[in-house]
Amino acid sequence: MSLWRTKSLEFLTEEANSGDQKLERKLGAFSLILLGVGAIIGAGLFSITGIAAAENAGPAIVLSFLLASLGCVFAGLCFSELAAMIPVAGGAYSYTYATLGEFVAWIIGWALILEYAAGAAVVSISWSAYVVSFLQGLNIHLPTALLASPWQPTHLPDGTEVYGWINLPPLLIIALLSGLLIVGIDKSAKVNAILVAIKVAVVLLFIGVGFGYVQEDNYKPFIPPNTGGFGEFGWSGIMRAAGVVFLAYIGFDAVSTAAQEVKRPQRNLPIGIIGSLGICTVLYVLFALVLVGLVHYTELNVAAPVAAAINKTPFLWLNGLIKLAIIAGLTSVILVLLLGQSRIFFTMSKDGLLPPFFSIVHPRYHTPWVSSLFLMVLVGLFAAFAPLSLVGHLTSIGTLLAFAIVCVSVIVLRKTHPDWERPFKTPFVPLIPLFGILTCMVLMFSLGWASWARLAVWILIGLAVYFLYGKQNSHLAKFE
Ligand code: ALA
Repeated sequence: MSLWRTKSLEFLTEEANSGDQKLERKLGAFSLILLGVGAIIGAGLFSITGIAAAENAGPAIVLSFLLASLGCVFAGLCFSELAAMIPVAGGAYSYTYATLGEFVAWIIGWALILEYAAGAAVVSISWSAYVVSFLQGLNIHLPTALLASPWQPTHLPDGTEVYGWINLPPLLIIALLSGLLIVGIDKSAKVNAILVAIKVAVVLLFIGVGFGYVQEDNYKPFIPPNTGGFGEFGWSGIMRAAGVVFLAYIGFDAVSTAAQEVKRPQRNLPIGIIGSLGICTVLYVLFALVLVGLVHYTELNVAAPVAAAINKTPFLWLNGLIKLAIIAGLTSVILVLLLGQSRIFFTMSKDGLLPPFFSIVHPRYHTPWVSSLFLMVLVGLFAAFAPLSLVGHLTSIGTLLAFAIVCVSVIVLRKTHPDWERPFKTPFVPLIPLFGILTCMVLMFSLGWASWARLAVWILIGLAVYFLYGKQNSHLAKFE
């Protein structure tokens, strides 16, 4: 039946390298690692770690980071096999199209909007809070009417909740970064490299400086006893916190969406995915160890946990620097998430599942500029006005669903295309993909039923769009 029609691997790869709507290959392995780190280190680390330690895991947040990283490493190995085998811009969406068919691919593409577009909106709001706080530090006060949407309050640095007309700063940063993405992948990669250098330097500085002031007593008890409900400390708390901090790892897969702009993709994509994931896992575990070592976990339920930690050292001047680094870090996250989303729209449009204008490539800059422009408006307005609390853990649960299906795809392709060249092979198949599926399911489960319900509503909307548009317009429909 047409719902399950698959796109052949031969067709996928041939198509990526032909036609006039072509992207340019400009990125090497190092740029890819930087893109990955650019998308990974952000709001998850700087804002959520403290809250997850205070509310769910205590000092054992370190174990939560390891658990979440385990799921990502399993999924990352699967991504690497598929990305090297099918180096096309659609990432998880394209792999699914080749394995489980159009219908599941559409659902994944739709779920990825939660990861990339909704993720960019969520992070841009965090970005805005840090910018406002930084400017206040310089005694520059913006009118509150321009700092919050009428439907979603903004928390000002002093803790007050305000409603306004529009949350303008996220709109501005999204417009700026969309413009950068339109003028070229190489320019975007250069800006990203500078931002990543700043944020990694400061994360290392925090770890190095903080280490000397860690109080051993803060680690006791390492796993605070469960206080009754699921997720309130104890082992279930570690699990729930792993689901929450999973957001901090999101983004390594964005590397795979740059596949059509990478030199020697078969070699460089696995290096980019596994390299960025490995670097971030080490940094996260050390960062979390220092954070809960400096501040007792019960005091970490604050908007700026890193500042609370710095205040326990004699280096208070670091606070300003850290804030700047966080702003730089969040900027690169938004940049790479917007990049990933535009490439996925580009590919879905080339397949006929989205309107053709999404795959128009700029004649001079060789970027999918209409996609980027569309996203600028969509994500910008969403961040400026939407009641974001509705989005909740949607970004994480949507991403986990996509990761689990990528793991399934590896197993399926090993059966259906055993002889297709695999420049990178996931070790111990089917064990690693099965562990990947299991860990993703555990993390999804830990996010609670409300997130599942929201995901179900989102998928239902996606199904309506598919049956009203994609199913009829799919290019594969022409061959039936
Ligand atoms: N990993 C990204 C962040 O934590 C989404 O901001």
